[in-house]
Amino acid sequence: MYICHCNALTDGDVHRALHGGAGRTAEVYRHAGCKAQCGGCARTVLCMLREFISARTAAEAMMAAGD
Ligand code: FES
Repeated sequence: MYICHCNALTDGDVHRALHGGAGRTAEVYRHAGCKAQCGGCARTVLCMLREFISARTAAEAMMAAGD
């Protein structure tokens, strides 16, 4: 599914950037070799980033607790 129509970024591209270490929205675009243009996708990218960080934090907490 396309997330950013200006740069033809898909949800897979965003996830690859997040798994590749992108921790800010600008880094997501940078990982994909582009940058935000109209900004229309910024909110969606930010939501995906927050969800990724939240899931990673929860997984790390479970691992630390020995679950
Ligand atoms: S839709 Fe992503 S910068 Fe325009």
